[in-house]
Amino acid sequence: MPALKIGVIGTGSISSMHLQSYDKNPDARLVAVCDLNEERAGSAAGKYGAELVYTDYRELLANPDIDAVSICTWNNTHAEIAIAALEAGKHVLVEKPLCRTVEEALRVQEAVRSTGRTLQVGFVRRYDPNAQLLRAFADRGEFGEIYYAKASSIRRLGNPGGWFSDIERSGGGPLIDIGVHVIDLCWYMMGLPKPVSVSANTYRKLGNRSNVRNLSFYKAADYNADLNTVEDMANALIRFENGASLLVDVSFTLHAKEDLTSVKLYGDKGGFEIDPEVAIVTEKHDTILNVKPQTDHKGFDFNAAFQAEIDHFVSSVRNGTKPISPVEDGVEIMKILCGVYESAALGAEVRL
Ligand SMILES: NC(=O)c1ccc[n+]([C@@H]2O[C@H](COP(=O)([O-])OP(=O)(O)OC[C@H]3O[C@@H](n4cnc5c(N)ncnc54)[C@H](O)[C@@H]3O)[C@@H](O)[C@H]2O)c1
Repeated sequence: MPALKIGVIGTGSISSMHLQSYDKNPDARLVAVCDLNEERAGSAAGKYGAELVYTDYRELLANPDIDAVSICTWNNTHAEIAIAALEAGKHVLVEKPLCRTVEEALRVQEAVRSTGRTLQVGFVRRYDPNAQLLRAFADRGEFGEIYYAKASSIRRLGNPGGWFSDIERSGGGPLIDIGVHVIDLCWYMMGLPKPVSVSANTYRKLGNRSNVRNLSFYKAADYNADLNTVEDMANALIRFENGASLLVDVSFTLHAKEDLTSVKLYGDKGGFEIDPEVAIVTEKHDTILNVKPQTDHKGFDFNAAFQAEIDHFVSSVRNGTKPISPVEDGVEIMKILCGVYESAALGAEVRL
């Protein structure tokens, strides 16, 4: 079978993880890149050996030589580009979040259905080796029924500015940007129960704190601190049809002592932690055991997870199999994220 011919749309910060992972996959060949910023696209093409450079994604999609695309652009363009790509016959790997609204998500889902092409959502945390290991344990009943999950993704200082802090282009702040990762990871580990309600709060108290000195943080490729129309932090309680619940808090900025990513799940036979370090908690012979799985990385392995995500996309397309993070999951996660914003605006619980 010939190598899958790839185009990468959006060549800002995260695209390098896609580009380097395609480069290492023998069944994929990078053919084209595209960015509104021609110089940025040109330098990615030079570094990773793409023959074609575009500044208009429509021209890239019109090239019949390209089989599949990665979409690594601003969130407001994900739905539009994904639908256009599917309709042009391409398979799609779209960065998280799938898009900005449930309505957009349903339109993408409909395009996947009508074209029969593969779409994988870039829920990269699912592809981490430790996450896959724990999911396999969960599938074998190791933790029993998982009824409670608790996740935090706290940056004390880390509003990336630029499009990330422009609600029109991002669709939201830390919830939609980093909260999406830990919410999806918990939901995936819980076995994808149907979400039924959300009670949430969002706060805009501190601004982006671009005044702070001597501490560096993740910034958009076109960093600009002038515009900030997104929340500083959000917290939420998400209820599922099976009675399970997920408690989550996230921030771009908060008067916290340090940054913290923490993901913990609890079942009736055992519990486990994914972040900051993998751990399993269980009971044997009337004794509580804290078990430390021996794996290459104690925590999230960014490079390995991206490589596994790209490898999975390439093999799903080539074999015609459904990815483990399909469009349907992207739609459900958009319902949760939008439910959080809706509940916070109402000051009341919302039914999904
Ligand atoms: N999976 C992860 O861990 C992870 C991490 C960071 C970002 N992301 C996601 O990746 C996407 C990009 O984020 P980033 O940090 O790389 O942002 P970025 O600002 O660094 O890069 C985005 C690039 O997209 C280009 N772009 C925007 N609209 C375009 C269009 N219509 N056509 C062509 N190019 C266009 C911009 O010019 C820019 O170069 C976002 O959806 C973000 O949520 C995922």
